[in-house]
This record gives sequence, structure tokens and C-alpha cells, in this order.
Amino acid sequence: MKEIKRDWREFAFRTRAIRAGHERTPEGEHAEPIFTTSSFVFKDAAQAAARFADEEPGNVYSRFTNPTVRMFEQRLAALEEGERCVATSSGMSSILATCMALLKAGDHIVAASSLFGATISLFNNVLTRFNLTTTFVSLTDLDAWRQAITSATRMLFLETPANPLAEVADIAALAELARTHNCLLVVDNVYCTPALQRPLTFGADIVVHSATKFLDGQGRCIGGAVVGNEAVGNALFGFLRTAGPSMSPFNAWVFAKGLETLDLRMHAHSRNAQQLAEWLTTQRGIKHVYYPGLTSHPQHELATRQQKAHGGLLSFEVDGDRKEAWAFIDATELVSKTANLGDVKTTITHPSTTTHHRCGPEARAKAGIKESLIRISVGLEDIDDLKQDLQRGLNALR
Ligand SMILES: Cc1ncc(COP(=O)(O)O)c(C=O)c1O
Repeated sequence: MKEIKRDWREFAFRTRAIRAGHERTPEGEHAEPIFTTSSFVFKDAAQAAARFADEEPGNVYSRFTNPTVRMFEQRLAALEEGERCVATSSGMSSILATCMALLKAGDHIVAASSLFGATISLFNNVLTRFNLTTTFVSLTDLDAWRQAITSATRMLFLETPANPLAEVADIAALAELARTHNCLLVVDNVYCTPALQRPLTFGADIVVHSATKFLDGQGRCIGGAVVGNEAVGNALFGFLRTAGPSMSPFNAWVFAKGLETLDLRMHAHSRNAQQLAEWLTTQRGIKHVYYPGLTSHPQHELATRQQKAHGGLLSFEVDGDRKEAWAFIDATELVSKTANLGDVKTTITHPSTTTHHRCGPEARAKAGIKESLIRISVGLEDIDDLKQDLQRGLNALR
């Protein structure tokens, strides 16, 4: 069968999301196949030797070469506008693999204090055992980033918007700072996905993903990905081949199918979240709503410039403390009480006792996560049904 090699940059985002990465097999399948095989056979011993020695391209073993995983990697690379993507077993392993592949003992990281709780724990409790240290700074304070950089700093790490308080960082300004100091700028793009924000186009070096979230979009599988240039791709591929936190072919297939509707979903999530955020600001019992689409958000103008829409995550503080926040959550009936996010089903969680529990009170205080804070990942249900359910939470505050 005639194989057409395409440069996916010629095509629009939605076309890339649906078409990129699929190299049809001689069977002529229309949908992408799942290669559920751990290893691949060689025609003879010489070919096996050539494949193992990287002298001949081709599949070897699914820890590091699998056609379904490759299809997902190529599709996501095309969407993030990166040269290479390496898929990993989870979002956390994408961050771990990035640090392990590109840093060495003695190196220093500057990271935003507003990060997913497990990322803070990874930097504070795991990487320190390998003599990789991290200084945490305010995401939005460019001077603080500048001042924290030392001669040992090799990486700047952030999420924007940050989960759960939705602070927004200026990616281009931080990319400039990273370049000046010979550091890599790594952006966790979970909140926006490439449908709404492409950090590499603002000068970031690497994008990491928890594919578990909006890339899948239906809460089915755990996975992650790292996107960057050829050098980053080679370093990550080498780490994955040796250390092994690889994505399974089945999960890669689910994520690739998720990418096909990513653009539609992210704009629909954003529309629902915008309406809920605006509605919540008018309700008694709500102290503060955190959503970059609100004109009152301190980085609203930057978010509007940097993002195509404002995403599906919002947080709010209720009047009171943990007791009131839990009462609000417990009164809801439709939305799911689960810590996952990025699902078509709306989810609700109490960050200080779930996603950010293990990073400890000091890191939580630094990240501004209070006991009265509730996070909602706004799904695609009808907006009136969502408001009616959250009204139950509001009623519990009265
Ligand atoms: C922003 C962000 N980064 C990374 C992760 C980790 O992803 P995973 O659960 O796939 O390991 C999460 C998980 O919630 C997240 O919210």
C-alpha cells in the first residue's frame, strides 16, 4: 500500500488531531489498530542484532517501540507543535522521566509553589534523595524566579494555569529567563491542553502531560507524555528504554481517540466553566472564585492573550472552613466526588485533604490552598443541571 509521509504542520489543529500518526498497515484498516504485543519478531538473527544496535529502524520490544504508542506520540507532538513526543505510564512518570533524563545529581530546579501536590512531593521528597534540589517561588513573580536561579539551576518548572488556584504565568517571559540562564523551561500543560495553549510556541523547551486528564477526557486510563525537540526526545526515549515507565498500547489507543475530539471538548468545557464561575461569584456563601475567564482574575488579560479559552477547572472558597467546604461537597448529588479532573463528568474535590494532602501544611500554605477551598472540574453535562446540583451545596452553607 502506498504510504504517504506527511508534514502535519500543513494541516489545521482539528485535522492533525484526527489524522496524524496513523500509518495504515497492509490490512487497510480505517480505524487505528491496537498492537497488543510485548515483542516483535525478526526475519533472522542478523536483523535482530541490527535492530538492537540501532542500525536498522523497526520495532523491538514494547517497552520502547510499539506502533500504537508511536501513533499517539506522533499525534500529540503534531498538536503541541513539538518535534518529538515520548509517552509514559502516568503524568507523574512524565515529570520523573524528564528530570531523570535531563538532570544529574547536584543540579537545581526552580519550580512554582502552585503545583499539583504529587509534583511538589516528587521534588521535595524523592528527587532530594538523588541530590536534586528545588526552590519554590511564586508562579506569577518574575523577579522571584530570577532571584532563585543559581549557577546550578538547570530547569524551571511550572503549570499554567496552575491547579487548583488558576494563577497564570507569562510563558514567553519565563522562556526568555530560562534561555538567558541556560535552563530548560518545562510546562505542565494539563489544565489547557494544546487545544487551548501551546507552550512550545511561546518558547518553552518541554511540555509534560498527564494524559489521564483532558487528553483522554473520559476518565478511563492513566498515562503521560513529554513533548520537545529531537534532543529532548532522544534523552527521554533512552531513559524509557532503560528504566521502563512506558505507556501500554491499549492506553495509547484510548488517548489517541481522545485527541480526536479534544478541540471540541476543551471549548465546551470552557463554556460551561465560564458560566458556572460567573454564576458562583453572585452566590451568597461564596467568598472567592478562581477562574482565569473572570475579568476580576489578576491575570485575566495575560490568560486571554496566551490561551484560546480559559479551560474547565475552577475553584472557590466558601465562607467558613473545612467543615463548610465538606458540607457543600457532601450536599451535591450529581457531580462526582472524586479527585480526578478533565472528564466529561463534572468532579468535585477538597484539595487540602485530597490532591494536596501529602505535600504538607507548609507547601499548602505557600500554594495558597486553604481549608475552605473546593475545586470543580467542569464537565459537559447541561449547565442548568450543574447549577441545580451546586445549589444543593450552597443551601448546605445556610
Ligand atoms: C497538573 C497535573 N500534573 C500531573 C498530574 C499527575 O498525573 P497522573 O495522575 O496521570 O500521574 C496531575 C494529576 O492530577 C495533575 O493535575
